[in-house]
Amino acid sequence: MGPAGRCLLCGLLLVALGGMGMAGEDPQPDPKAPCANWMGGAPGYPGHNGLPGRDGKDGRDGEKGEKGEQGEKGAKGDSGQIGSQGAEGPRGFPGTPGIMGMKGEKGEGAFIHRSAFSVGLTGRVPHPNVPILFSKVFYNEQQHYDVSTGKFRCSVPGMYYFAYHLTVYLSDAKISLYKQDRAVLFTYDQFQPNNVDQASGSVLLHLNAGEEVWLQVYGEGANNGVYADNINDSTFMGFLLYPDLDVH
Ligand SMILES: *[C@@H]1O[C@H](CO)[C@@H](O)[C@H](O)[C@H]1NC(C)=O
Repeated sequence: MGPAGRCLLCGLLLVALGGMGMAGEDPQPDPKAPCANWMGGAPGYPGHNGLPGRDGKDGRDGEKGEKGEQGEKGAKGDSGQIGSQGAEGPRGFPGTPGIMGMKGEKGEGAFIHRSAFSVGLTGRVPHPNVPILFSKVFYNEQQHYDVSTGKFRCSVPGMYYFAYHLTVYLSDAKISLYKQDRAVLFTYDQFQPNNVDQASGSVLLHLNAGEEVWLQVYGEGANNGVYADNINDSTFMGFLLYPDLDVH
């Protein structure tokens, strides 16, 4: 029973005794210590402090605290291992054009190894079995065709192209292309009456220096129909296709 409970009990006893005619004999009790005065004994000394109590149960978890400040930056880590090679990338853009190179040296073949001619007839071929004399010159810069003999004479060994387109009139025409006294190409035009024919042929020949090429009508004079006038040409031409490699 606590002090408050004890005083309440003392109060009740005081009221009960007062009702029994004893209240006048004693002064009013000190309201601050009614019991001590009533019971008559001297108050005791306060007791010694008790032993500390046992630890209480753990409290409940507190509320979540505020977020702390950001920590300092950590030390630099070790370098990692070398990664594997990546896939090949797409093709890059084309580079800028390079600087123009220096001018090359002057070539030899373009100027030294030139050989070409183009000639025509100026009238009827008068004589069979001799070189046809083409005296109408379209081109003969190198003079490798001899207008006095009707023969082309090779100056640059190599491959040559020869062609002829002859008008045939009044009679048949048999024409051969000769190389060094040997006929290598033959053309026969059978003339049709009241007509104007053309006989033509072409050939590639390799020539050595000094070898000659020409056209010639063969057979009897009756077969000599090779013809030309101002407006019906008969032509013969040839040119060096390419020289031999060992020519310098
Ligand atoms: C030559 O050709 C012309 C046409 O261009 C023709 O009229 C004439 O008859 C020809 N010459 C001969 C001899 O046929």
